Amino acid sequence: MEKEKNIEIHETAFLTSTLRSLNEDLSQDYFAKLWRNTKSDKWIKKYLDLVSSEETNTHCLRNRYFLDTIKKLVDDNDVEVLINFGCGFSMYPFLLDERLIHIEIDKPEIIDYKKSKLMNWQKTNTLPKRNIHFIAVDFSEDYKQDLLTKIFSIKNNKPCFILIEGVLFFLDRKETDMLFDFFNMIQKPGDFIGSVSFQDTLKESLAFRKLMAFLNQIVSKTKESDYQTIADDYYRSQPTYQLIDHQDYFSLSAKYGNVIQLNKEEILNENFYLLKKSNR
Ligand SMILES: C[S@@+](CC[C@H](N)C(=O)[O-])C[C@H]1O[C@@H](n2cnc3c(N)ncnc32)[C@H](O)[C@@H]1O
Repeated sequence: MEKEKNIEIHETAFLTSTLRSLNEDLSQDYFAKLWRNTKSDKWIKKYLDLVSSEETNTHCLRNRYFLDTIKKLVDDNDVEVLINFGCGFSMYPFLLDERLIHIEIDKPEIIDYKKSKLMNWQKTNTLPKRNIHFIAVDFSEDYKQDLLTKIFSIKNNKPCFILIEGVLFFLDRKETDMLFDFFNMIQKPGDFIGSVSFQDTLKESLAFRKLMAFLNQIVSKTKESDYQTIADDYYRSQPTYQLIDHQDYFSLSAKYGNVIQLNKEEILNENFYLLKKSNR
């Protein structure tokens, strides 16, 4: 592949949304297609060819798992606020009950663009009206005090679900530890975290090697060590949280009747973790 103009990390959000729009029956995200554009369509075609054609359905099932999980918790009155860290262009606010309060956090480039687009689409009735608060933050910087104040002013003590999907891969361990400490600061016992990551063992697979080659070609970061994988133990050993559910692409495919096309080596198998803050 010829060296092309790099895309920035935040632009990967366009790619994720495009993938979700390619199998709406599976993702149940009927609004992801609003973010499609010729540049991301072009990258997605290359991505599916060069990395793994299974990536459409891995992304669709990820959306479906969190959508159904959060829906149930909202129905049961266990969650009133959804805080999406590294929200990108995900569209949960419009797929979930209108009573839910949303806090969308990402880099300023994403937040400014998403905010103006969503406000416009709500004004023109392309999207239903929702209660959304946008906060621009870079997780590589010192955000704690300011973000804490902003989040508490919105959520007070309401029960919340923190979602972090498709983000930890781009952060290092120190930034990840800081985020999980921060989650513990803002959450009460009974609150939830939904997190997504690749297991360390995926690094040996053909699909991961293809992903590295692809990213090396198009994204501004270059080395394998720039991308984080996480062992299950990281979640199991969070001191004040209990791991209450753990799924991956294979278990969710079985649950939702998705027929897997490729062999294991050729699939970027993401793992999905649901944690609940304990009373300790
Ligand atoms: C692949 S996208 C996933 C977006 C969204 N969570 C989803 O699943 O649709 C990765 C997101 O992580 C965000 N991100 C990566 N590094 C970040 C950082 N240091 N601070 C804040 N956001 C970051 C990017 O801006 C981008 O929106």
